[in-house]
Amino acid sequence: MSMDRRRFISLSAAIAAAPLAASCSGYDKVAAPGVPRSDFDEDSTALQVTEGIDLSGKIAVVTGCTSGIGFETMRVLALRGAWVIGTSRSLQRADDACKLVRGKTTPLALELSDFDSVVRCAETIRALNSPIDMLILNAGYRGGGNERTLIDGVEKHFLVNHLGHFVLVNRLLDRLFFAWQGRIVVVASRAAYRGAPETGIRFDDITLERDYSDSLAYGHSKLANVLFSLELGKLLKGTRITSNALHPGLIDTEIDRNVNRFLQLGFGVLAALRGKSVDAGAATSCFVATSPLLGSTSGRYFEDCNAIEVRESHLQDMAMADRLWVVSEQLTRDYLVKHERPDWDEFENGLRKSGRDGA
Ligand SMILES: NC(=O)c1ccc[n+]([C@@H]2O[C@H](COP(=O)([O-])OP(=O)(O)OC[C@H]3O[C@@H](n4cnc5c(N)ncnc54)[C@H](OP(=O)(O)O)[C@@H]3O)[C@@H](O)[C@H]2O)c1
Repeated sequence: MSMDRRRFISLSAAIAAAPLAASCSGYDKVAAPGVPRSDFDEDSTALQVTEGIDLSGKIAVVTGCTSGIGFETMRVLALRGAWVIGTSRSLQRADDACKLVRGKTTPLALELSDFDSVVRCAETIRALNSPIDMLILNAGYRGGGNERTLIDGVEKHFLVNHLGHFVLVNRLLDRLFFAWQGRIVVVASRAAYRGAPETGIRFDDITLERDYSDSLAYGHSKLANVLFSLELGKLLKGTRITSNALHPGLIDTEIDRNVNRFLQLGFGVLAALRGKSVDAGAATSCFVATSPLLGSTSGRYFEDCNAIEVRESHLQDMAMADRLWVVSEQLTRDYLVKHERPDWDEFENGLRKSGRDGA
Protein backbone atom coordinates (compact mmCIF):
# COMPACT_ATOMS: atom_id res chain seq x y z
CA MET A 1 0.00 0.00 0.00
CA SER A 2 1.41 3.44 -0.89
CA MET A 3 2.33 5.80 1.92
CA ASP A 4 -0.36 8.31 0.94
CA ARG A 5 -3.06 5.66 0.88
CA ARG A 6 -1.95 4.33 4.27
CA ARG A 7 -1.94 7.84 5.71
CA PHE A 8 -5.38 8.53 4.21
CA ILE A 9 -6.83 5.37 5.80
CA SER A 10 -5.23 6.15 9.17
CA LEU A 11 -6.54 9.70 9.08
CA SER A 12 -10.05 8.62 8.09
CA ALA A 13 -10.01 5.98 10.82
CA ALA A 14 -8.86 8.57 13.37
CA ILE A 15 -11.69 10.92 12.36
CA ALA A 16 -14.23 8.10 12.53
CA ALA A 17 -12.88 7.05 15.95
CA ALA A 18 -13.08 10.56 17.44
CA PRO A 19 -16.34 9.85 19.35
CA LEU A 20 -14.68 6.75 20.82
CA ALA A 21 -12.01 8.99 22.31
CA ALA A 22 -14.61 11.56 23.39
CA SER A 23 -12.53 13.82 21.23
CA CYS A 24 -13.84 17.34 20.97
CA SER A 25 -12.73 20.39 22.86
CA GLY A 26 -14.18 23.70 23.95
CA TYR A 27 -14.76 23.03 27.64
CA ASP A 28 -13.66 25.58 30.18
CA LYS A 29 -11.65 23.78 32.89
CA VAL A 30 -10.49 25.42 36.10
CA ALA A 31 -8.46 24.16 39.04
CA ALA A 32 -10.80 22.87 41.74
CA PRO A 33 -10.75 25.31 44.66
CA GLY A 34 -9.37 24.14 47.98
CA VAL A 35 -7.53 21.09 46.61
CA PRO A 36 -3.71 21.06 46.87
CA ARG A 37 -2.06 21.24 43.43
CA SER A 38 0.45 18.59 42.49
CA ASP A 39 3.50 19.06 40.28
CA PHE A 40 2.48 16.03 38.23
CA ASP A 41 1.00 16.40 34.78
CA GLU A 42 -0.13 14.43 31.73
CA ASP A 43 3.34 12.97 31.22
CA SER A 44 3.77 11.67 34.77
CA THR A 45 3.74 7.91 35.15
CA ALA A 46 2.24 5.74 37.88
CA LEU A 47 5.76 4.89 39.03
CA GLN A 48 6.66 8.57 39.35
CA VAL A 49 3.55 9.61 41.26
CA THR A 50 4.06 6.82 43.81
CA GLU A 51 7.82 7.26 44.19
CA GLY A 52 8.80 7.23 47.86
CA ILE A 53 5.34 6.07 48.99
CA ASP A 54 5.48 2.91 51.07
CA LEU A 55 2.25 0.95 50.80
CA SER A 56 3.36 -1.98 52.94
CA GLY A 57 0.50 -3.21 55.08
CA LYS A 58 -2.12 -1.56 52.84
CA ILE A 59 -4.75 -3.45 50.88
CA ALA A 60 -6.03 -2.34 47.48
CA VAL A 61 -8.84 -3.75 45.38
CA VAL A 62 -8.51 -3.05 41.65
CA THR A 63 -11.43 -4.06 39.43
CA GLY A 64 -10.46 -4.98 35.88
CA CYS A 65 -6.82 -5.85 36.57
CA THR A 66 -6.15 -7.90 33.46
CA SER A 67 -5.28 -5.25 30.93
CA GLY A 68 -4.61 -1.58 30.27
CA ILE A 69 -4.87 0.89 33.11
CA GLY A 70 -6.03 -1.64 35.70
CA PHE A 71 -3.08 -3.94 35.13
CA GLU A 72 -0.59 -1.07 35.42
CA THR A 73 -2.36 0.22 38.53
CA MET A 74 -2.14 -3.21 40.14
CA ARG A 75 1.50 -3.61 39.09
CA VAL A 76 2.62 -0.30 40.56
CA LEU A 77 0.61 -0.52 43.80
CA ALA A 78 1.99 -4.03 44.41
CA LEU A 79 5.50 -2.85 43.63
CA ARG A 80 5.08 -0.16 46.30
CA GLY A 81 4.20 -2.82 48.83
CA ALA A 82 0.40 -2.99 48.78
CA TRP A 83 -1.44 -6.29 48.78
CA VAL A 84 -3.59 -5.99 45.65
CA ILE A 85 -6.77 -7.93 45.05
CA GLY A 86 -7.30 -7.85 41.30
CA THR A 87 -10.51 -8.84 39.53
CA SER A 88 -11.51 -10.04 36.10
CA ARG A 89 -14.59 -11.70 34.66
CA SER A 90 -12.38 -14.76 34.37
CA LEU A 91 -10.58 -16.06 37.44
CA GLN A 92 -7.99 -17.62 35.14
CA ARG A 93 -7.24 -14.26 33.47
CA ALA A 94 -7.05 -12.53 36.85
CA ASP A 95 -4.65 -15.23 38.03
CA ASP A 96 -2.49 -14.87 34.91
CA ALA A 97 -2.34 -11.09 35.41
CA CYS A 98 -1.48 -11.44 39.10
CA LYS A 99 1.34 -13.85 38.29
CA LEU A 100 2.95 -11.23 36.05
CA VAL A 101 3.22 -8.80 38.94
CA ARG A 102 5.94 -8.53 41.57
CA GLY A 103 4.49 -8.32 45.07
CA LYS A 104 1.47 -9.70 46.87
CA THR A 105 -1.65 -10.12 44.75
CA THR A 106 -4.84 -12.16 44.89
CA PRO A 107 -7.01 -12.86 41.85
CA LEU A 108 -10.79 -12.83 42.09
CA ALA A 109 -13.68 -13.30 39.68
CA LEU A 110 -16.06 -10.38 39.17
CA GLU A 111 -18.68 -9.92 36.45
CA LEU A 112 -20.10 -6.46 37.01
CA SER A 113 -23.20 -7.07 34.91
CA ASP A 114 -24.25 -9.85 37.29
CA PHE A 115 -25.09 -8.64 40.81
CA ASP A 116 -24.81 -12.18 42.19
CA SER A 117 -21.21 -12.24 40.99
CA VAL A 118 -20.62 -8.80 42.57
CA VAL A 119 -22.00 -10.03 45.89
CA ARG A 120 -19.87 -13.21 45.72
CA CYS A 121 -16.75 -11.17 45.02
CA ALA A 122 -17.52 -8.76 47.86
CA GLU A 123 -18.20 -11.64 50.25
CA THR A 124 -14.86 -13.25 49.38
CA ILE A 125 -13.09 -9.96 50.12
CA ARG A 126 -15.08 -9.48 53.33
CA ALA A 127 -14.08 -12.97 54.44
CA LEU A 128 -10.48 -11.72 54.65
CA ASN A 129 -11.74 -9.62 57.55
CA SER A 130 -9.23 -6.91 56.74
CA PRO A 131 -9.54 -3.18 56.18
CA ILE A 132 -9.55 -1.97 52.58
CA ASP A 133 -7.33 1.05 52.09
CA MET A 134 -7.95 1.61 48.39
CA LEU A 135 -10.94 0.52 46.35
CA ILE A 136 -10.22 1.32 42.73
CA LEU A 137 -13.26 1.02 40.49
CA ASN A 138 -11.42 0.65 37.23
CA ALA A 139 -13.16 -2.04 35.17
CA GLY A 140 -15.02 -0.64 32.23
CA TYR A 141 -17.05 -1.65 29.21
CA ARG A 142 -17.54 0.10 25.89
CA GLY A 143 -19.81 -1.43 23.30
CA GLY A 144 -19.36 -1.57 19.54
CA GLY A 145 -21.89 -1.81 16.74
CA ASN A 146 -24.34 0.74 18.17
CA GLU A 147 -26.81 -1.90 19.21
CA ARG A 148 -28.46 -1.24 22.54
CA THR A 149 -28.06 -4.20 24.90
CA LEU A 150 -30.37 -4.60 27.87
CA ILE A 151 -29.56 -7.03 30.67
CA ASP A 152 -32.50 -7.60 33.01
CA GLY A 153 -33.98 -4.41 31.59
CA VAL A 154 -30.88 -2.28 32.32
CA GLU A 155 -28.70 -0.73 29.60
CA LYS A 156 -25.34 -2.57 29.60
CA HIS A 157 -22.93 0.39 29.96
CA PHE A 158 -24.95 1.77 32.87
CA LEU A 159 -25.06 -1.69 34.42
CA VAL A 160 -21.37 -2.63 34.09
CA ASN A 161 -19.72 0.73 34.58
CA HIS A 162 -22.05 2.18 37.20
CA LEU A 163 -24.52 -0.18 38.92
CA GLY A 164 -22.12 -3.12 39.34
CA HIS A 165 -19.64 -0.84 41.07
CA PHE A 166 -22.49 0.77 43.06
CA VAL A 167 -23.30 -2.64 44.59
CA LEU A 168 -19.62 -3.48 45.15
CA VAL A 169 -19.03 -0.26 47.09
CA ASN A 170 -22.15 -0.79 49.17
CA ARG A 171 -21.01 -4.29 50.09
CA LEU A 172 -17.44 -3.25 50.96
CA LEU A 173 -18.02 0.11 52.60
CA ASP A 174 -17.55 -1.09 56.17
CA ARG A 175 -14.17 -2.57 55.21
CA LEU A 176 -13.14 0.93 54.13
CA PHE A 177 -14.30 2.27 57.50
CA PHE A 178 -11.83 -0.12 59.12
CA ALA A 179 -8.91 1.41 57.23
CA TRP A 180 -6.87 4.25 58.63
CA GLN A 181 -7.95 6.32 55.64
CA GLY A 182 -10.03 4.47 53.07
CA ARG A 183 -10.03 5.79 49.53
CA ILE A 184 -12.55 5.05 46.81
CA VAL A 185 -11.19 5.89 43.37
CA VAL A 186 -13.66 5.89 40.49
CA VAL A 187 -12.08 5.61 37.05
CA ALA A 188 -14.54 7.61 34.95
CA SER A 189 -13.71 9.43 31.72
CA ARG A 190 -13.93 12.84 30.15
CA ALA A 191 -16.72 11.20 28.14
CA ALA A 192 -18.73 12.13 31.25
CA TYR A 193 -18.98 15.64 29.81
CA ARG A 194 -17.95 15.20 26.18
CA GLY A 195 -20.05 12.17 25.39
CA ALA A 196 -22.97 12.14 27.85
CA PRO A 197 -26.46 13.36 26.92
CA GLU A 198 -26.64 17.17 26.97
CA THR A 199 -29.18 17.15 29.77
CA GLY A 200 -27.10 14.73 31.86
CA ILE A 201 -28.50 11.52 33.32
CA ARG A 202 -31.67 10.59 31.42
CA PHE A 203 -33.95 9.89 34.35
CA ASP A 204 -36.94 9.73 32.00
CA ASP A 205 -35.14 7.34 29.63
CA ILE A 206 -32.47 5.61 31.70
CA THR A 207 -32.06 2.82 29.12
CA LEU A 208 -31.49 5.36 26.32
CA GLU A 209 -34.30 3.96 24.22
CA ARG A 210 -34.92 7.32 22.49
CA ASP A 211 -31.63 7.73 20.64
CA TYR A 212 -29.02 5.11 21.38
CA SER A 213 -25.37 5.15 20.36
CA ASP A 214 -22.43 3.41 22.06
CA SER A 215 -20.72 6.77 22.59
CA LEU A 216 -23.80 8.25 24.23
CA ALA A 217 -24.30 5.20 26.46
CA TYR A 218 -20.64 5.13 27.46
CA GLY A 219 -20.71 8.86 28.27
CA HIS A 220 -23.97 8.41 30.21
CA SER A 221 -22.40 5.65 32.34
CA LYS A 222 -19.21 7.67 32.88
CA LEU A 223 -21.23 10.69 34.01
CA ALA A 224 -22.94 8.29 36.42
CA ASN A 225 -19.45 7.31 37.69
CA VAL A 226 -18.55 10.93 38.46
CA LEU A 227 -21.91 11.73 40.08
CA PHE A 228 -21.76 8.54 42.15
CA SER A 229 -18.39 9.61 43.50
CA LEU A 230 -19.68 13.14 44.13
CA GLU A 231 -22.61 11.81 46.16
CA LEU A 232 -20.39 9.34 48.03
CA GLY A 233 -18.11 12.25 48.92
CA LYS A 234 -21.12 14.02 50.42
CA LEU A 235 -22.47 10.97 52.28
CA LEU A 236 -19.06 10.12 53.69
CA LYS A 237 -18.36 13.61 54.99
CA GLY A 238 -17.16 13.40 58.59
CA THR A 239 -15.67 9.93 58.06
CA ARG A 240 -12.11 9.13 57.07
CA ILE A 241 -13.19 7.66 53.74
CA THR A 242 -12.80 9.76 50.63
CA SER A 243 -14.21 9.26 47.15
CA ASN A 244 -12.86 10.85 43.99
CA ALA A 245 -13.36 10.31 40.26
CA LEU A 246 -10.95 10.77 37.40
CA HIS A 247 -10.24 10.68 33.70
CA PRO A 248 -7.11 8.57 33.06
CA GLY A 249 -6.30 10.10 29.66
CA LEU A 250 -6.61 8.72 26.15
CA ILE A 251 -4.74 5.40 26.11
CA ASP A 252 -4.57 2.65 23.52
CA THR A 253 -5.84 -0.26 25.63
CA GLU A 254 -8.40 -2.98 25.05
CA ILE A 255 -11.29 -0.65 25.83
CA ASP A 256 -11.98 -0.61 22.07
CA ARG A 257 -12.18 -4.44 21.93
CA ASN A 258 -15.82 -4.40 20.80
CA VAL A 259 -15.50 -1.97 17.90
CA ASN A 260 -14.52 -2.91 14.34
CA ARG A 261 -10.93 -3.05 13.10
CA PHE A 262 -11.20 0.28 11.26
CA LEU A 263 -12.26 2.12 14.43
CA GLN A 264 -9.60 0.28 16.44
CA LEU A 265 -7.01 1.55 13.98
CA GLY A 266 -8.40 5.09 14.34
CA PHE A 267 -8.41 4.88 18.14
CA GLY A 268 -4.80 3.71 18.03
CA VAL A 269 -3.84 6.62 15.77
CA LEU A 270 -5.63 9.16 17.98
CA ALA A 271 -4.02 7.70 21.11
CA ALA A 272 -0.59 7.81 19.46
CA LEU A 273 -1.07 11.43 18.40
CA ARG A 274 -2.86 12.87 21.39
CA GLY A 275 -2.85 10.20 24.06
CA LYS A 276 -0.71 8.73 26.81
CA SER A 277 1.25 5.55 27.38
CA VAL A 278 -0.32 2.99 29.71
CA ASP A 279 2.33 3.90 32.34
CA ALA A 280 1.04 7.47 32.30
CA GLY A 281 -2.57 6.29 31.95
CA ALA A 282 -2.44 4.70 35.40
CA ALA A 283 -0.82 7.75 37.00
CA THR A 284 -3.97 9.64 38.00
CA SER A 285 -5.53 6.49 39.53
CA CYS A 286 -2.38 5.77 41.55
CA PHE A 287 -2.00 9.42 42.51
CA VAL A 288 -5.56 9.76 43.77
CA ALA A 289 -5.29 6.41 45.58
CA THR A 290 -2.03 7.15 47.39
CA SER A 291 -0.97 10.80 47.47
CA PRO A 292 -0.47 12.16 50.98
CA LEU A 293 -1.67 15.50 49.57
CA LEU A 294 -5.20 14.16 49.24
CA GLY A 295 -5.97 12.77 52.71
CA SER A 296 -9.04 14.95 53.08
CA THR A 297 -9.93 15.59 49.44
CA SER A 298 -13.27 14.05 48.50
CA GLY A 299 -16.00 14.41 45.89
CA ARG A 300 -13.54 15.81 43.35
CA TYR A 301 -12.84 15.05 39.70
CA PHE A 302 -9.22 14.71 38.49
CA GLU A 303 -7.43 14.90 35.16
CA ASP A 304 -3.65 14.61 34.77
CA CYS A 305 -3.12 14.28 38.56
CA ASN A 306 -4.92 17.48 39.48
CA ALA A 307 -8.47 18.22 40.56
CA ILE A 308 -10.45 20.32 38.13
CA GLU A 309 -13.94 21.63 37.60
CA VAL A 310 -15.43 21.64 34.14
CA ARG A 311 -17.71 24.61 33.57
CA GLU A 312 -21.04 23.98 31.87
CA SER A 313 -20.90 20.27 32.56
CA HIS A 314 -22.96 18.15 34.94
CA LEU A 315 -19.93 16.89 36.86
CA GLN A 316 -20.63 19.03 39.92
CA ASP A 317 -24.44 18.80 39.78
CA MET A 318 -25.36 17.78 43.33
CA ALA A 319 -29.10 17.56 42.63
CA MET A 320 -28.44 15.18 39.73
CA ALA A 321 -26.09 13.14 41.94
CA ASP A 322 -28.76 12.88 44.68
CA ARG A 323 -31.34 11.72 42.19
CA LEU A 324 -28.98 9.22 40.57
CA TRP A 325 -28.31 7.71 43.99
CA VAL A 326 -32.01 7.14 44.60
CA VAL A 327 -32.50 5.58 41.16
CA SER A 328 -29.41 3.38 41.59
CA GLU A 329 -30.69 2.18 44.96
CA GLN A 330 -34.04 1.31 43.41
CA LEU A 331 -32.39 -0.65 40.60
CA THR A 332 -30.12 -2.65 42.93
CA ARG A 333 -32.21 -2.79 46.11
CA ASP A 334 -32.25 -6.59 46.42
CA TYR A 335 -28.45 -6.65 46.57
CA LEU A 336 -27.70 -3.82 48.99
CA VAL A 337 -26.96 -3.95 52.68
CA LYS A 338 -27.89 -1.24 55.18
CA HIS A 339 -25.04 0.61 56.84
CA GLU A 340 -24.62 2.06 60.22
CA ARG A 341 -21.60 4.17 60.93
CA PRO A 342 -19.19 2.22 63.14
CA ASP A 343 -18.73 3.45 66.64
CA TRP A 344 -15.19 4.84 66.70
CA ASP A 345 -14.67 3.80 70.32
CA GLU A 346 -14.73 0.24 69.07
CA PHE A 347 -11.73 0.83 66.80
CA GLU A 348 -8.03 1.28 67.20
CA ASN A 349 -5.80 1.91 64.18
CA GLY A 350 -8.58 0.79 61.91
CA LEU A 351 -9.14 -2.55 63.66
CA ARG A 352 -11.90 -3.58 66.00
CA LYS A 353 -10.45 -3.82 69.51
CA SER A 354 -12.64 -6.81 70.24
CA GLY A 355 -11.37 -8.57 67.10
CA ARG A 356 -14.96 -9.35 66.19
CA ASP A 357 -15.99 -9.55 62.55
CA GLY A 358 -17.34 -6.21 61.44
CA ALA A 359 -20.20 -7.65 59.43
N1 LIG B 1 -8.31 3.76 27.52
C1 LIG B 1 -8.82 4.97 27.53
O1 LIG B 1 -8.49 5.81 26.65
C2 LIG B 1 -9.78 5.40 28.60
C3 LIG B 1 -10.24 6.72 28.59
C4 LIG B 1 -11.11 7.13 29.57
C5 LIG B 1 -11.54 6.23 30.53
N2 LIG B 1 -11.09 4.94 30.52
C6 LIG B 1 -11.57 4.04 31.57
O2 LIG B 1 -10.48 3.38 32.16
C7 LIG B 1 -10.91 2.14 32.73
C8 LIG B 1 -9.94 1.04 32.33
O3 LIG B 1 -10.05 0.85 30.95
P1 LIG B 1 -8.86 0.41 29.99
O4 LIG B 1 -8.70 1.49 29.00
O5 LIG B 1 -7.72 -0.06 30.76
O6 LIG B 1 -9.61 -0.79 29.23
P2 LIG B 1 -9.35 -2.37 29.15
O7 LIG B 1 -7.94 -2.64 28.76
O8 LIG B 1 -10.44 -2.86 28.26
O9 LIG B 1 -9.60 -2.87 30.63
C9 LIG B 1 -10.90 -3.00 31.14
C10 LIG B 1 -10.90 -4.00 32.29
O10 LIG B 1 -12.25 -4.13 32.73
C11 LIG B 1 -12.58 -5.51 32.85
N3 LIG B 1 -13.98 -5.70 32.47
C12 LIG B 1 -14.54 -5.47 31.28
N4 LIG B 1 -15.85 -5.76 31.31
C13 LIG B 1 -16.13 -6.20 32.57
C14 LIG B 1 -17.30 -6.66 33.22
N5 LIG B 1 -18.48 -6.79 32.58
N6 LIG B 1 -17.23 -7.02 34.52
C15 LIG B 1 -16.03 -6.94 35.18
N7 LIG B 1 -14.89 -6.52 34.62
C16 LIG B 1 -14.93 -6.15 33.31
C17 LIG B 1 -11.63 -6.24 31.90
O11 LIG B 1 -11.31 -7.49 32.48
P3 LIG B 1 -11.70 -8.91 31.84
O12 LIG B 1 -11.90 -8.72 30.36
O13 LIG B 1 -10.52 -9.77 32.15
O14 LIG B 1 -12.93 -9.29 32.56
C18 LIG B 1 -10.38 -5.37 31.91
O15 LIG B 1 -9.47 -5.81 32.89
C19 LIG B 1 -12.33 1.93 32.22
O16 LIG B 1 -13.25 2.25 33.23
C20 LIG B 1 -12.45 2.90 31.07
O17 LIG B 1 -13.78 3.33 30.87
C21 LIG B 1 -10.23 4.50 29.56
